[in-house]
Parts: sequence; C-alpha cells; structure tokens
Amino acid sequence: MPSHISAEGSDPMPFHAEPSERQTLVDWTTYATAYDLLSQHNPEYQALLHGFEAFLGTIETPQLIYDIGGGTGNYTQIAARVFPESEIRFVEPDAGMIGAAKAKMAAHANISYDTLSIEDLDATAKADLVICVHALYAMPAPEQRLRDLRRLLRPGGWLYLVDIGRHLDVADWRTYLFSHLRKQHGLAGALRILWQGREIAKQNKAIFRAQQEGVYWTHTGAELAEAASAAGFEIVSQQPAYRGYSDLLVCRANP
Ligand SMILES: C[S@@+](CC[C@H](N)C(=O)[O-])C[C@H]1O[C@@H](n2cnc3c(N)ncnc32)[C@H](O)[C@@H]1O
Repeated sequence: MPSHISAEGSDPMPFHAEPSERQTLVDWTTYATAYDLLSQHNPEYQALLHGFEAFLGTIETPQLIYDIGGGTGNYTQIAARVFPESEIRFVEPDAGMIGAAKAKMAAHANISYDTLSIEDLDATAKADLVICVHALYAMPAPEQRLRDLRRLLRPGGWLYLVDIGRHLDVADWRTYLFSHLRKQHGLAGALRILWQGREIAKQNKAIFRAQQEGVYWTHTGAELAEAASAAGFEIVSQQPAYRGYSDLLVCRANP
C-alpha cells in the first residue's frame, strides 16, 4: 500500500535513487477511488480520450499493445474496443488502480495485467503501440524510463505519450472544474461532485508538492521532446494538452 508524501521525507536527489529507495509519493490507491468520477466530469480528460481514439483510427491494427501506468484503464478500454483482435498488456503498479481497471474491463478477454512498475517489467515481446499517459512524470528517472518505453517497441512502433510537465495548480483546476460543473449541474450538483472527488484534490496537492521538491519531473514541451529523441524516438507530432499543463507527443521508435 503506498505511503503518503511528506516534505521532510523526500529524497534530495530522487532521480538518482534506486526505485526501491524512493518513497511512494502519492497515494494512488486512494486516488483510484474517485479517479473515474472526476475524469468523467472533466472535459479536458474527456478531450484527451477522444484524441486518443482519433489517433487509433489513423494506425494499422497493432498486434501487441502496452499501456504503461494505465491507472483505472480508461485508455486500454478504448484500445480494446477499437482493436478487439489486439493483445493488450496492462502495466500498473498500484493495487487500487489495477483493481479498478480489472473490474471495469472484465468483459475483455484480450487484456492481461501486470501489477508492476515499468522499471520492474521484464518484457521480451515487442509492441506495435505503447500508451503512456500522465504517468512518466511520476516515475523514477523519467529519462531512463523513456528508454524503457523505447525497448518495449519494435522499430517503427508507436508511442502515444502524454505527460504533465507544468506545476499542477490545484486552485486553478478547482475554479475551472467548478465553473464547468455549475453550468452542467447547477450549484448544488457542482458542490456535490467536487465533494465526492475531494480525494483527487488532496492527491493533486501531493503531486504539486512533489513537483515543487523536484521529486516528480516537470518539463517544457521542448524538454520532453528532447528527452524522447535522446531515448530513440522520432517525434511525429507534438502539442500542448490538458489546458497547457501537459504535452502530447506521438512518436515512432527509431530503427
Ligand atoms: C495519474 S495516473 C494516470 C492513469 C492513466 N494513464 C490515465 O491517464 O487515466 C498515473 C499512474 O501512473 C502509475 N505509475 C506511477 N509510477 C509508475 C511506474 N514507475 N511505472 C508504471 N506506472 C507508474 C501510478 O500508479 C498511476 O496509476
């Protein structure tokens, strides 16, 4: 079970620490309990899902797909629907997250589950598509993890990468969501949904603290692209996403 972040306990050189030495910074299990509730009500999250589905419409059917840091499975669920013939390996270290994903996708026989961090994944089969959304920033040594993502792909394989690079301003997100929810559900409805999703705000504050301490990676779009190129990817397209907090990169693995 993940432990909570504490400013005092953070590693001063986190990206150089062995994964086993690092503390788990955010309680992803707690996050999982309200993750989908707030995701359903967040138009920016929904826009990312639609963009992902549109991307899938542009590529050939992949034989093997990895979803790395797949959380509650929202991207895998789309991939499994669009490509029912593909084999999907869902990789997620947190028991709460992966439990939610399994429950959601029980009807799909083509998904296998690994309760693992990417750094512990021993994968020999090369994928045609790797999905990694809003997870890289939380991984130890993210530049090395980009190389791990490259190793999971056959030459020419696709990486669909979205990463939060900017400091997560929880007050800004609350204002944005409240304004949207109020239009959709009225004042009482908006307050009820934010109350139900209050764990997310709490965990997002933990993410913000970890970013401030340099434990979680922050980057510009250009820095992420540079790191992806150095890890062996060709950047096919790149754009800011998630209200400018994130970057969306579509990449191909260099031969
Ligand atoms: C914000 S969630 C994103 C989930 C999902 N990709 C989505 O966009 O809905 C980040 C996920 O990254 C996972 N994660 C954190 N460190 C990881 C690591 N080293 N390897 C793989 N996944 C990791 C967490 O457990 C968490 O479920």
